[in-house]
Amino acid sequence: MKTANGESVLGRVVRIFEVFGSEVTALGVSELARRADLHVATASRLVERLVGYGWLQRDEDRKVRIGVRLWELAARASPTLPLRETAMPFMEDLHAVVGHHTQLGVLEGDEVLFLERLSSRKAVINLTRIAGRLPLHASSSGQVLLAFAPAELQQRILDGPLRAYTPATPTDPKKLRTRLAAIRRDGYALCPGYIDEAATGIAVPVRAPDGEVVAALGVVVPNDANARMQVPALRAAALGISRSLIR
Ligand code: PHB
Repeated sequence: MKTANGESVLGRVVRIFEVFGSEVTALGVSELARRADLHVATASRLVERLVGYGWLQRDEDRKVRIGVRLWELAARASPTLPLRETAMPFMEDLHAVVGHHTQLGVLEGDEVLFLERLSSRKAVINLTRIAGRLPLHASSSGQVLLAFAPAELQQRILDGPLRAYTPATPTDPKKLRTRLAAIRRDGYALCPGYIDEAATGIAVPVRAPDGEVVAALGVVVPNDANARMQVPALRAAALGISRSLIR
């Protein structure tokens, strides 16, 4: 169904959902309308309908957020569910050994999308969110996925822009290319302070039975920890996940 200006109602609904991101989780209707580039009256009407279906919900202070029903549908239908469920017991073991953030990410577009993250209260600062994204060039999981990605994707990322999150973020394409070769050779990526000055990310590839890299398994530790010491535990967990994917 088309509206007077030719845009489908579905298009408008999609614009409403696209406003929500990992940093934007709850908004008043007028702000939502502004960000979705819709009239307040239109946004208001659509929001009410979506709240009725449980796809959006309202806080006590009337702010709008993604509804539990939408989360339920998305979680159940997720194409990545088998990978996440297979990985979970291995991630729990790894988390118990390492005692810091443990996370599983997949390549999604030009970023790494995190399917799962286990944290502990005393762990170092972590910018990763479940269902959140990080750039490929600046995170350890991202670099692992990039190192094993098709050449076209590598080239697109290397062509930039390579945003500097900290002074340590690799922004020189030549150096980044050399790093990717080292990751393929060594089988892990170590990223001290690349995305957050206080944290070191370290990640290894998770392979499907045919050898294809399907995910990156990573930990985020404080800079003073000897991050390289985590590599054997990470490798063992990744291998366990790979073997379980066969069955
Ligand atoms: C990393 O994977 O390198 C990473 C991720 C999140 C952080 C820090 C490092 O907060």
